[in-house]
Amino acid sequence: MTSVLITGAKGFIGSSLIKLFTSKKYKVIGWDVDIKETKFKDNDNLKEVDLGNQNLISRELIKDKPDIIIHCAGSADVSKSVRNPDIDFQGNVALTHNLLFGIYKSGITLPKIIFLSSAAVYGNPKKLPITEKAPVNPLSPYALHKVMCEQMCQYFISNYQMNIKILRIFSAYGTGLKKQIFWDMYNKAKLTGRLDMFGSGNESRDFINITDVIESIYLVATKDTADYDIYNVANGSEVSIRDAATLFANIMRVPSEKVYFNNVVREGDPLNWQADISRLKNLGYKPSVSMENGLVDYFKWIEGNSIY
Ligand SMILES: NC(=O)c1ccc[n+]([C@@H]2O[C@H](COP(=O)([O-])OP(=O)(O)OC[C@H]3O[C@@H](n4cnc5c(N)ncnc54)[C@H](O)[C@@H]3O)[C@@H](O)[C@H]2O)c1
Repeated sequence: MTSVLITGAKGFIGSSLIKLFTSKKYKVIGWDVDIKETKFKDNDNLKEVDLGNQNLISRELIKDKPDIIIHCAGSADVSKSVRNPDIDFQGNVALTHNLLFGIYKSGITLPKIIFLSSAAVYGNPKKLPITEKAPVNPLSPYALHKVMCEQMCQYFISNYQMNIKILRIFSAYGTGLKKQIFWDMYNKAKLTGRLDMFGSGNESRDFINITDVIESIYLVATKDTADYDIYNVANGSEVSIRDAATLFANIMRVPSEKVYFNNVVREGDPLNWQADISRLKNLGYKPSVSMENGLVDYFKWIEGNSIY
C-alpha cells in the first residue's frame, strides 16, 4: 500500500488532501503542529509533529517511511508576511529546510516530495498567460520566502538526487478557507452591508477551487513526472477582481452597487495573473469546478462556519 505523508494536515489544503488520499485507499499519515480541536483526532495516523524540530522529523520519518510527502505546513498569508516577515521566514524557509534536511538525515528510502509554492513568486509578470519559465520577481516577504524554498528544493534535487516537484498554486478558494478575498467579503457584508475592496477592480487572478487544487496535487504526486520540476496549478483563466466580487456579491444577495474599490493596491499584491497550465493538462488535468458553482458551494459552507 503506498503511503502518503501530509504536513500541515489540518490546514486548508492539507485537510482536503487527507480526505482525497484516504478515499483513494492510500495509507495516509498527517502531521501538524497542533492537532487538538481537529476533526481528525480519532485518526491514529494524525500526529503532532512540529516541523520546527529537525531531529523529531527524522525520528518520525524512520517510523512512518512514507513513499510520498506533500509539504503543506507553513505560513500562507501575503499580508501577514508584510506585517511580520520573521514569522513568515520561519513558517516557510526554516520549516522547509528542516523537512528536507530531516529527510536526508533520516536515511530512509527517498520519498517523492511535493512542495507547495505559490504564484506569488511571479510578482507582476511581463506577459500573460504565465508559463513556468517566466522569471521570478517576488513582491512580498511571502513570495521571497517561497522563491528561497524553491531554490532549496532545486539544491536537494541537484545535490541529493531527491525527487521534488514544485507546485505554484494560484488563487485557491473553497470549503475550509477562512481567509482571503471571498471570506473577507462575506464578513464585510455581514458587518457593514458594504463591500469595500482594495484596488481598482481591474486587477485579475486565476482562481482555482480546492477540489481542482487537490486533484492537481494528486496527479503530480502519483503520475510519473520526470519531465518537469515545476508546475503551475490554476484554472487557466483570468478573472478580474471586479467580476469575481460582483459574482460573489450576487451569490450573497448583496446589490452590486455596494461593491466599492478604493484604488489602493495593497503592499505585496500583484496586478494581473493568468496561468499557462499546459504542463498540468499533459498529466490529464481538466478544471472541473466553474467559478460560479465553486462560489455557491463556498457561500453555503461559510454560512455554516462563520460567527454570524
Ligand atoms: N491557500 C492558498 O490559496 C495557497 C496558494 C498558494 C500556495 N499555498 C501554499 O500551500 C500551503 C498550504 O496552504 P494552506 O492554505 O493550506 O495553509 P494553512 O494555513 O491553512 O495550513 C498550514 C498548516 O501548517 C501547519 N503548521 C504551521 N507551522 C507548523 C509547524 N511548525 N509544524 C507543523 N505544522 C505546521 C498549521 O498548523 C496549518 O494547519 C502553504 O505553503 C501555502 O503557502 C496556498
